[in-house]
Amino acid sequence: MSVKTLEIDGRAVTGRAGETIFTVAWENGIRIPRLCHVGGLSDVGACRLCLVEVEGWKKLAAACLTPVEEGMVVRTATDRLKEHRRMIVELLLAERNHVCSVCVMNGACELQDLAAELGVDHVRLRYRFPRLGVDTSHERFGMDHNRCILCTRCVRVCDEVEGAHTKDVSGRGAHSAIITDLGEPWGESDTCTSCGKCVQVCPTGALFSKGKSVAEMRKDRGFLKYIVTAREKRQWIR
Ligand code: SF4
Ligand code: SF4
Ligand code: FES
Repeated sequence: MSVKTLEIDGRAVTGRAGETIFTVAWENGIRIPRLCHVGGLSDVGACRLCLVEVEGWKKLAAACLTPVEEGMVVRTATDRLKEHRRMIVELLLAERNHVCSVCVMNGACELQDLAAELGVDHVRLRYRFPRLGVDTSHERFGMDHNRCILCTRCVRVCDEVEGAHTKDVSGRGAHSAIITDLGEPWGESDTCTSCGKCVQVCPTGALFSKGKSVAEMRKDRGFLKYIVTAREKRQWIR
């Protein structure tokens, strides 16, 4: 497999042909923000938080979808990118009802962490305050649409790892929503195996285990690496 040599944030790094800028950066300790990417799942470029500058390119590039090329010069943390990411987080916060003080994931939420990291101490946009529901029909899990950022991690893990494809996206734009099967209550799904993988990969409090109160929910993402490594390398190590 051919090796590509490139520069990320002034550091000379190498990656395998086909690897993305995102993967090579993280392998070298350069942390590019993300909300939709999860190692082991396909990438869809939904959140745009991983956008980076590539010298000579007019447009910003989604690091999770852009393969490394020989001689590339990449910048991941310029003021322009930081402002761009801040605006995305503000848009996400304004789009639905993210009330952290009463969320089961308060203190362990990836969106909340990112907002803090980017210095989002207020939102410059008008909140939309949509009227969204909470589906608590499943015996063990719940889905709060108010907290959903439509990253589709749950859809992909359910399809690509569990093989159930219970979750999907309905609608377009601001009317998009995560649905169960063809829009049935989760608890009535014939396809859901109740494996909980969707709950564990969800970055916010949108998917949660029942019985958790405010700030109690902690998610375990290690299981995904375990499954993917086991499948790809036949190594059953945690
Ligand atoms: S619990 Fe498992 S099968 Fe059910 S929706 Fe979530 S990932 Fe899919
Ligand atoms: S429910 Fe969670 S994992 Fe699924 S799209 Fe919404 S935020 Fe992402
Ligand atoms: S992580 Fe690349 S677009 Fe979301």
